[in-house]
Amino acid sequence: MFDELEKINKRPKPFQFYTASDLWTDEHTSKQMLSFHLDEAIDVSSRNAEFINRSVEWITSEFNIGKDTRIADFGCGPGLYATRLAKRGASVTGIDFSKRSIEYAKEVANHEQLNINYVNQNYLEFDTEDRFDLVLMIMCDFCALSQRQRKGILSKFHKILKASGSVLLDVYSLSAFEQRKEAATYGVNQLNGFWSPNKYYGFLNIFKYDEEKVILDKYTIIESGRTRHVYNWLQFFAPEDIEREFKDAGFYVKGIYSDVAGNAYNQKAGEFAVVVKKA
Ligand SMILES: C[S@@+](CC[C@H](N)C(=O)[O-])C[C@H]1O[C@@H](n2cnc3c(N)ncnc32)[C@H](O)[C@@H]1O
Repeated sequence: MFDELEKINKRPKPFQFYTASDLWTDEHTSKQMLSFHLDEAIDVSSRNAEFINRSVEWITSEFNIGKDTRIADFGCGPGLYATRLAKRGASVTGIDFSKRSIEYAKEVANHEQLNINYVNQNYLEFDTEDRFDLVLMIMCDFCALSQRQRKGILSKFHKILKASGSVLLDVYSLSAFEQRKEAATYGVNQLNGFWSPNKYYGFLNIFKYDEEKVILDKYTIIESGRTRHVYNWLQFFAPEDIEREFKDAGFYVKGIYSDVAGNAYNQKAGEFAVVVKKA
C-alpha cells in the first residue's frame, strides 16, 4: 500500500509520458468529451457557441476566408469551427484522433453537404500532399505538447502551408500559471464517474514545475483489475516564448490577441492567441 501511494504521488519529469489519447479517445471518456463539446453554454472541450460564432466571424475577416481558402484544423473535435468555416466557402481538412468526434463531424458535413475532409488520426503523425492557406489549433492544444512535439508540429505546419500561409493558435499565459497551485486530492468515482462506468478510486496530483512553466494534472484511476495513470500536461507561455518557437520554425508573429476572436491582447488574461506567417 505504501509503495503504491509512493507511485501515485511521484513527480515525473516534465512531459515524461504522453497519454492524451486516454483522455480523448477512450470509449467512456470520449462520450463525455463529445457531450461537453456539444453543450453550447459551457467552455469545456470547446468554447461556448456564442464565442465560436464571434471567433469564426473574426477569422473570416482576418484571413479573408472565401471560396478558394484551404484550411487545416488540427484537433478539430466535432468540427464546430470546420463546419462554420466551410459554410463560408472554405475547403477544410479537420484532423482529430477521437473517432467519436470525427464520426459526429462527418455526419454534420454529409447532412449539410459541406466541403470538409475529416481525418481520424493522431495529428502528430498526420501528413499530406495538400497545401493550405491557414492552419488552426484552437483551445490551447499546443500547450499539451512537449517542446520536442511542438517543434515537430511547427515544422509540419511550415511544410503544409502555402508560401503566404498563416497559423492561428491560442495558449495559456504566465498569468494563468501564477494562479495554479500544487495539490493532491482523492475521491471515489472522482469527477462524477468521468473516468469509468465502473466503480473506481481516483487520485489527482497537481505538480507545478516553476522553472519550466509547466503544470501536470496526474490522474491515477484504480478499478477492480485495472490501474491507469493519465498525465495532462500544460505548458504556459510568455508572448516572447511563442515568438521564439515560431521564429526557430521559420515563421514571424503578425499579431497577438487575447483570444481567437481577435480581442486586444491583455497581459493579465489567462490565455492569448497568435497569428503567425511564414517568414
Ligand atoms: C480542447 S479540444 C478542442 C477542440 C476544437 N479545436 C474546439 O476548440 O472546438 C482538443 C481536441 O484535440 C484532439 N486531440 C488532442 N490531441 C490530439 C492528437 N495528438 N491528435 C489528434 N487529435 C488530438 C482531441 O480529441 C480534441 O478533440
